[in-house]
Amino acid sequence: MDKDSQKEGIVYIKTFGCQMNFHDSDILRELLIQSGYMIAGKPDDAGTIIFNTCTVRDHADSKFYSELGRYSKSDKKIIVAGCLSQIAGRSLIKRAPFVHAVVGPQYLYEIPHIITGGSVVLTDDNPEFYIHSRPEIKKLSASVDIMYGCSRFCSYCIVPYTRGREISRRPDDIYDEVCRAAENGAREITLLGQNVNAYSYEDIDFAALLRKVAAISGISRIKFMSPNPASMTDRQIREISYIPKCVPHIHLPLQSGSDRILKLMKRGYNSSGYMKKVEKIEKYIKDAILTTDIIVGFPTETEQDFEQTLKIVGDVGFFNSFMFCYSKRSGTQAGAMEGQVSMVVSKERLGRLIEYQQNITVKKLERYKGSIMSIFVDKQKESGFAGRTRQDIVINVKSGSAVLGKFVPVEVCGISKHTLKGKELA
Ligand code: 5AD
Ligand code: SF4
Repeated sequence: MDKDSQKEGIVYIKTFGCQMNFHDSDILRELLIQSGYMIAGKPDDAGTIIFNTCTVRDHADSKFYSELGRYSKSDKKIIVAGCLSQIAGRSLIKRAPFVHAVVGPQYLYEIPHIITGGSVVLTDDNPEFYIHSRPEIKKLSASVDIMYGCSRFCSYCIVPYTRGREISRRPDDIYDEVCRAAENGAREITLLGQNVNAYSYEDIDFAALLRKVAAISGISRIKFMSPNPASMTDRQIREISYIPKCVPHIHLPLQSGSDRILKLMKRGYNSSGYMKKVEKIEKYIKDAILTTDIIVGFPTETEQDFEQTLKIVGDVGFFNSFMFCYSKRSGTQAGAMEGQVSMVVSKERLGRLIEYQQNITVKKLERYKGSIMSIFVDKQKESGFAGRTRQDIVINVKSGSAVLGKFVPVEVCGISKHTLKGKELA
């Protein structure tokens, strides 16, 4: 027997994509340990490699395929999980016959069993996925899924096809999971969902869930990712403002500033509707900061459409933005649209947008210079530490002795690209 196949019980997990995928990998790691597997720190040490994939943009696909290619001649057992698996299914085995199993996001819990089993492709709807209780994960900053999937079908987005339709978890299960996270040392909790504020289970909506979670002692900060502007109600905004544990940082994906493009994207709001939500957030939530996601080069986007995006970015004054070139996803509505914009044009617009946003970010960061802010220390470095303010802004402190999991005051003394530099107070 060769060396790699003897190491089948040692697993390396490589994760691509969003916070949801990283959280799935945390769950998977615990499940594997419970089942007697060992987790390797690097691929060379493992006999089994699990790729937890993303397919939201073409770039994510290419990154994965180029990594996968490296294993074509290896004896390691290769398992492909996550969103790309759901779309590629059996065709992935045809393209890469050395792949042992292809497992969609709803089969995460099966992975420990299929490592030793025969070759499989698991991508059908799996209702059992939703009733699994979650393993305990010990983290200072813990994430908890509150809902899965998305039923909005924005015309550019592959997620409803990879993660399935929206389904909310039972509030009592969420409550228990947050309580266990707090008992295991979590001080911060992030509620996760593709369309998180559309959470709804019987008579409990997102606002009611926030209230329930906020009552759990031990948890000092509550975050949530990602809300959708179309599902954001006045009641939610008021509730966030009434709960001091909710961080005043709202990530509200805009996607475009052009009403014509927003309509083609099927976002369910126009620019003035979006601005009204922003005004309400700023009115009710003290010291709120806003961040967003933007796509440039959506089919038929003109220079005028793009200028409307720049305008709204300036009007809102986002603290930061995640900015992307539109990536054609086959199977989505926009993938079949006429008027695809060339990559050259998209990249040029993206460059301008990034520069515009960076200038805004710098101005926003500059305002904090000289102020004293309390940070939650979530990273310790060789010398110094890093933490996050109440608004979830990262402050790096070069030298100091603060310990993980503590709240400490620091003085802001400078800025980096998206973060602040701080000094520990004596
Ligand atoms: N092309 C480019 N960006 C996309 N996003 C989702 N689908 C696409 C696509 N086809 C972006 C959106 C979303 C973020 C998670 O990814 O901005 O909010
Ligand atoms: Fe990628 Fe979207 Fe899947 Fe997250 S949900 S892993 S971003 S495709």
